[in-house]
Amino acid sequence: MTITQAIEKRKSRRTYSDKPISPEHTALLRSRVDEYNQRSGLTIRLVEKGASAFAGIRKSYGMFKGVRSFFVMKGPAGDPHLKEKIGYYGELLVLEATALGLGTCWVGGTFDPSGIRRSSGEELVCVITVGPVPASETARERLIYKAIHRGTKTIDQLSMVTGTPPAWFQRGMKAVQKAPSTRNTQKVLFTYENGSLRASVPDTYKFDLVDLGIAKLHFSLAAKGRFEIGNGGSYIPPEKE
Ligand SMILES: Cc1cc2nc3c(=O)[nH]c(=O)nc-3n(C[C@H](O)[C@H](O)[C@H](O)COP(=O)(O)O)c2cc1C
Repeated sequence: MTITQAIEKRKSRRTYSDKPISPEHTALLRSRVDEYNQRSGLTIRLVEKGASAFAGIRKSYGMFKGVRSFFVMKGPAGDPHLKEKIGYYGELLVLEATALGLGTCWVGGTFDPSGIRRSSGEELVCVITVGPVPASETARERLIYKAIHRGTKTIDQLSMVTGTPPAWFQRGMKAVQKAPSTRNTQKVLFTYENGSLRASVPDTYKFDLVDLGIAKLHFSLAAKGRFEIGNGGSYIPPEKE
């Protein structure tokens, strides 16, 4: 499965099998973490025995079961684009793990951060659970999904368009519809006018900019271009289009 195919397949998983990630998959994920940390200046870490952050109803509000491993999504507190980068590179890891057949879930609130190590000057933004999962969702996962999900916004609700955008716009927006977001609020707005496209969020909630990074990544993978960094950053299509 390619990363782009993983966009179609991914869904948040909250019940994990009682098995560790295989050594081959662990090595691959670790090498990706190193690569993305080098590229971005982030200090993401893969924790393999982290069950205590999710143990007991009190810590995970009963949402998660069997969590052993997670990515600790952190970086320099002074980086003005910290949260957007966390969203972008975290979602790349999510899609890579999905392509390996592993389950994942972004977790901003329902875990206990107290035992997670970080250095001074580092900000812990959130974690992403990762690991082997039962082939189909458990009844409990389906219940949580129903309670949180409330359906997906249409492309018209996710964008404001003046004029007729090129074909890549639809491709990108379909991938944005599939992107995870905080409580599935899907707040990122894509505005197309005068031949250019921008992505923005209100930035009124602590994870809005994480959602921005995730949505920009989904759009860019499907449309094959890239976005300038920043809230309101412009889309740069590939040279041959
Ligand atoms: C930044 C962020 C934080 C999240 N925090 C939590 C959380 O604390 N607990 C949880 O169960 N799900 C959390 N989620 C998962 C979302 O609820 C989920 O992505 C959304 O409902 C869409 O469902 P899907 O991922 O299955 O498409 C979070 C997602 C994002 C992007």
